[in-house]
Amino acid sequence: MTTRQGKRKILVTSALPYANGAIHIGHLVEYIQTDIWVRHQKMGGHECYYICADDTHGTPVMLRAEQEGITPEALIERMHAEHLRDFTDFHIAFDNYYSTNSPENRELAQGIYTRLKEDGFIDIRSIEQFYDPVKEMFLPDRYIKGECPRCHATDQYGDACEGCGATYSPTELIDPVSVISGATPVKKHSDHHFFRLGQCRPFLEQWTRHGENGESPLQKEAANKLEEWFEAGLRDWDISRDAPYFGFEIPGAPGKYLYVWLDAPIGYMASFKNLCDRERIDFDAWWRPGGDTELYHFIGKDILYFHALFWPATLHFSGYRTPSKIFVHGFLTVNGQKMSKSRGTFINARTWLKHLDPEYLRYYFAAKLNERIEDLDLNLDDFTARVNSDLIGKYINIASRTAGFIRKSFGGRLAATLDPRDTALLGALQEAAATLRQYYEERRYSEAVRHIMDLADQANAYINEREPWKTIKDPALRARTHQVCSTGINLFRLLTLYLKPILPRLAGQVEDFLNIPPLCWEDAQTLLTGHEIKPYRHLAKRIEARQTEALLEDSRESMGTPSPDTHSPSRHGETQQHTPPPIAETITIDDFARIDLRVARIVAAEHVEGADKLLRLTLDLGGEKRNVFAGIKSKYKPDELVGRHTVMVANLAPRKMRFGISEGMVLAAGPGGKDLWLLQPDEGAQAGMRIK
Ligand code: 2FM
Ligand code: ZN
Repeated sequence: MTTRQGKRKILVTSALPYANGAIHIGHLVEYIQTDIWVRHQKMGGHECYYICADDTHGTPVMLRAEQEGITPEALIERMHAEHLRDFTDFHIAFDNYYSTNSPENRELAQGIYTRLKEDGFIDIRSIEQFYDPVKEMFLPDRYIKGECPRCHATDQYGDACEGCGATYSPTELIDPVSVISGATPVKKHSDHHFFRLGQCRPFLEQWTRHGENGESPLQKEAANKLEEWFEAGLRDWDISRDAPYFGFEIPGAPGKYLYVWLDAPIGYMASFKNLCDRERIDFDAWWRPGGDTELYHFIGKDILYFHALFWPATLHFSGYRTPSKIFVHGFLTVNGQKMSKSRGTFINARTWLKHLDPEYLRYYFAAKLNERIEDLDLNLDDFTARVNSDLIGKYINIASRTAGFIRKSFGGRLAATLDPRDTALLGALQEAAATLRQYYEERRYSEAVRHIMDLADQANAYINEREPWKTIKDPALRARTHQVCSTGINLFRLLTLYLKPILPRLAGQVEDFLNIPPLCWEDAQTLLTGHEIKPYRHLAKRIEARQTEALLEDSRESMGTPSPDTHSPSRHGETQQHTPPPIAETITIDDFARIDLRVARIVAAEHVEGADKLLRLTLDLGGEKRNVFAGIKSKYKPDELVGRHTVMVANLAPRKMRFGISEGMVLAAGPGGKDLWLLQPDEGAQAGMRIK
């Protein structure tokens, strides 16, 4: 990647987290990655701003506020405070953390819409959608469930089947129900505003390939993905939603609102505008084309379409500049698997902070992050071993083995001159600065960490060979010991500088102990001599296995806390989060009595060839056997089911499925995936017993 020389002007963003859920460690991959990059830029003396905000609009926020009996404004205010506290405690240093529900964002979003409309980029068409007659609102796809029109799996969302992977329109679902009220939705027409993305294709192709100045703004894999999308054709984008909706009204269209994904990225601009007004920065110099400023977005791979197609097209055709680069990262897995509440690996930022140092997570993520779009695994055993061996065993060890002597035997003052015998190693460490800066610049953090730990090994070998703890006892070697320990402190100072983008708090403590101003990249050129340092205090603690165990245990316990898995494939603002859905319409006892619920014993369970989510169960109802297909494969292995008792709907009409006939339904709680719990009666219940 080519970078400009001299003092650069750099604006950086991370994706805006939704205001309807807590920050978890999956989110933190991105914020930590970005924060390290920003700190690196600031240490290089560049004018760099790190901007973010809460993404506040859309149906989930509206409904959650309603469930809690508060206004959306009150909800987003609370979430804003919680998010900011989490980020601050993880040392994510935004220059502004704002909200998309702001006057600046309203003005920018409505202005952009108006400009697009005036220039012929908005098309108004009537479309037919599902409408909840009880709740009196149109239903986003994820708020409708029903039977898959392809494989007939039940309880599938309106946009895709988790059973067979088919995608479809919600109006194709069999027996659809509204997740919000339980009512049967009806089809209804309404006018929608579409952004004519198809019309932007020539610009987008040019932009993807050559950016604004000849270089693609995307990583190779991302650019390839865009080429696939071009090939498939760009569909116009529905950017309006009908009332009731929590968002900004469309100018000149009462009752119509801008879709959350239209105003969310404009929130980057609005947050920056808010900073500009406070700090007298020239907003237009950063957001109008042709300036000398740089704009970078860090995002997860699931929101590439929004950032690499909709966003540059929206910007360009409303008279704004486009991003210099979009940096895409992969998802987080924990212990090799998707984060899971039942395994305790769905770890909220707050829960982490109760058990472990946030900088240890920063270090581990840095040790694994690179410039590619790869998933990243947090293996908790590896995490513990790595932090203990690298940070405590290698890095901190250098200070703890040398600082005490400087204080006790040399009055806290470093040697006035360093010995030429030591300058080779010191020089090697100083020279490493250029390579490390480049690694940080290119987001090759794992290589930076490896290189720094190599240097730490060399520093430790140096101290081992010189054995200051022995030479200190020999008055004849006093001057030499002073130099060796002073060299050790200088090596430690350089390593601290190199780790500073990753470990800013620890670096701050070291700066205090070394009695020096904040370290920046330029400081690699100098060494400390004849300088007085403060007494050494313990800087960091080893991780004990019990801490990670307690973290998992605590995360399992906080399972009930609503916190969306934003790294699931369907997180585009309208996902039903893990908050309990509202209670369905009232039924009479007679209605209930019509459902024949029975205790069933699972006598056989097997995989179904070609089905991603289904297991075939043979159920014993006290003599009578039933064949039932259950969408529980994501959670249960066939072996662990055999012999268990569960609950089934015994009088459900048989259904013909792609794999055979399903003669009933077993009952489970939870939203699906790994968050699924098969019902089981208390010990003693017998197969065939009726449940009343
Ligand atoms: O996917 C998400 O979590 C969105 N809230 C990200 C928005 S990023 C930007 F476009 F605002
Ligand atoms: Zn299906």
